[in-house]
Amino acid sequence: MELVPLGSALGAEVRDLDVSAGLDDATVAALRSAWLETGLLLFRDQSLDETALADFSRHFGALEAPPASERRTRSEAGSVVCPDVWVISNVVENGQAIGSLGAGEAEWHTDMSYIEEPPSASILYGLEIPPAGGDTHFADMYKALDTMPEELHGRIAGRNARHDSSYTSAGDLRLGAEPVVDVTKSPGAIHPIERTHPESGRQALYLGRRRNAYVEGLPVEESEALLDELWDYCTRPEFVYVHSWRPGDLLVWDNRCVIHRRDSFDQSSRRVMLRTQIKGSRTN
Ligand code: SIN
Repeated sequence: MELVPLGSALGAEVRDLDVSAGLDDATVAALRSAWLETGLLLFRDQSLDETALADFSRHFGALEAPPASERRTRSEAGSVVCPDVWVISNVVENGQAIGSLGAGEAEWHTDMSYIEEPPSASILYGLEIPPAGGDTHFADMYKALDTMPEELHGRIAGRNARHDSSYTSAGDLRLGAEPVVDVTKSPGAIHPIERTHPESGRQALYLGRRRNAYVEGLPVEESEALLDELWDYCTRPEFVYVHSWRPGDLLVWDNRCVIHRRDSFDQSSRRVMLRTQIKGSRTN
């Protein structure tokens, strides 16, 4: 097994490893340590079904159940093999979407930061990839915090943010959610904006997603301006790695210090991805 950096921002490609073969303890320990160190691991040319993806994912911890809307999509499409594996796809079969997020852009976000104990790892496997578009961008929130101008950093010191659960990253209102009219009351968890990573002990910027977020205790206008400034800063190109997918690519990222977004692609092409998440813990 060889580790090759993905670029200057974050991530590493793990070469010469078939993740569906039984991995011994030393290999799993090396993978976990590389994941914590680099924030994002890429494995190319993997051949996985749902069960193999779930088995590999468990090396990073217990699986987190998908949100209710994802569970419903899968059961309506009649495609459930492992209930904790979900499908991200634009494909519609027999009038029914087989997965979530469609073909549009998915905005920058941290997965499920709107729950009290958001996932530690997110794992995404490419089955079918469109000829153009659908790239996934990842940004390093350690670097964003470490290099943040002192004045901006000072304004988030000791502050918490509200993480709205109403909308998906594709901008769709979730099943059973109401549109948010007052961001100070957005439903969802409240987390420190600067969080201590529970395993590395490092401080990372933790913003969740921009839509309906709110910096607790500030007038709404001030919160909006501060969030805009933080989002502009933390998504600068120097913090970002852009992944152009090939079928068989498997990505594992650390959801506590890495954010991601996805480019749109042509709805007439097919993109089918399998997805798991690993249970996290409450972090301060
Ligand atoms: C996501 O935003 O979780 C999905 C990313 C992707 O479809 O590439």
